[in-house]
Amino acid sequence: MSKALSNRINSLPVSQTLAMAAKARELKEQGKDIISLSLGEPDFNTPDFIKDAAIEAINQNYNSYTPVDGYGELKEAICTKFKRDNNLDYQPNQIVVSTGAKQSIANVAQVLLNPGDEVLLPAPYWVSYSAIAMLCEAKFIEIPSSIDNDFKITPQQLEEAITPKTKMVFFNSPNNPSGSIYSEEEYRALAAVLEKYPHIYILSDEIYEHINYGVKPFSFAAIESMYDRTITVNGLAKAFAMTGWRIGYIGAPDWIAKACTKMQGQITSGTNCIAQRAAITAVLASPDKVQYMVDEFRSRRDIVLDLLGKIEGFKLNIPEGAFYIFPDVSAFFGKTIKGKEIKDANDFSMLLLEEANVATVTGDAFGAPECIRMSYAASELQLREAIKRIKEVLS
Ligand SMILES: Cc1ncc(COP(=O)(O)O)c(C=O)c1O
Repeated sequence: MSKALSNRINSLPVSQTLAMAAKARELKEQGKDIISLSLGEPDFNTPDFIKDAAIEAINQNYNSYTPVDGYGELKEAICTKFKRDNNLDYQPNQIVVSTGAKQSIANVAQVLLNPGDEVLLPAPYWVSYSAIAMLCEAKFIEIPSSIDNDFKITPQQLEEAITPKTKMVFFNSPNNPSGSIYSEEEYRALAAVLEKYPHIYILSDEIYEHINYGVKPFSFAAIESMYDRTITVNGLAKAFAMTGWRIGYIGAPDWIAKACTKMQGQITSGTNCIAQRAAITAVLASPDKVQYMVDEFRSRRDIVLDLLGKIEGFKLNIPEGAFYIFPDVSAFFGKTIKGKEIKDANDFSMLLLEEANVATVTGDAFGAPECIRMSYAASELQLREAIKRIKEVLS
């Protein structure tokens, strides 16, 4: 690291999911037959009806700067979607469209957090939450969970983590990396705690909402007492296979939305015009139109659970959504496999990469150091082959 770089960037960790993907790519380029189960990206193409809307937008000469908070038509469409899918009443002035949900989350953190504020992260959590909090010089406090309680925190744990400095709590359901979904009842129990602490804001990241296997996710802002202090985050990347299109959005109290617009106006301005026009079509489409992807993910999940369940040492929960398996692999810690000592999940994930040529991500990155994350956004053939190789290495 150059000394000329700011303390801010020097202290920022590299995203471990991206680092693992880069390492896998490097090995592939060296000629190794790597199966990558490390990235959180659907392996489908964007549906044609969305691509057509983008092509039409290009032909209609959508090429100018866009309004910072997004096209009015798109914000209206997002309000319709929030009512249709989440029973949430938002007006267009409460919506801000951004360059991916990642930017939406970064905006919210930047406008709400002061140095020294505490952010509660129920673990396991998506890797960028902690980095985004760090960039705001806030302190992130992990609330641990384990596979034995389906990777969910209890109201008591939440209450114990709260201090006068707590400013925000980040919820994510369906969850990356665990696939767990909080039920309405579980969310209401957590909200009952938060009702006692009106100084705390809630970020509810619902980007995997459509990728669920029967348990319909519940929106935190649908709890009346929470609506005025919840920021609902969503985006198109996961459900519509549009990761590269970079569209995310929030529904939030008007004053928070305004602040996010101000922040975004100085950093990126409004997001890409073509992607926004296509997004109008995507958010207004019935979720049934992408059900074929969800059905495919479900079938792969079942295959992976079945095959991994036959390998001694893998402790599994049944993920109800998203496209990850998050096994507890602590049974392997302290063992020596293929001459390599496995002290922790980092060693285990490295063993799988080097000996089985399968890329996964260590649970450390998600605040769950006894687990690894495996994405099943890969073909059935690749998944079967990957697990066969893992089994061979471990036996
Ligand atoms: C939980 C979670 N939130 C947000 C994002 C970011 O989404 P986007 O690609 O829209 O920035 C991801 C992407 O991996 C995610 O897993």
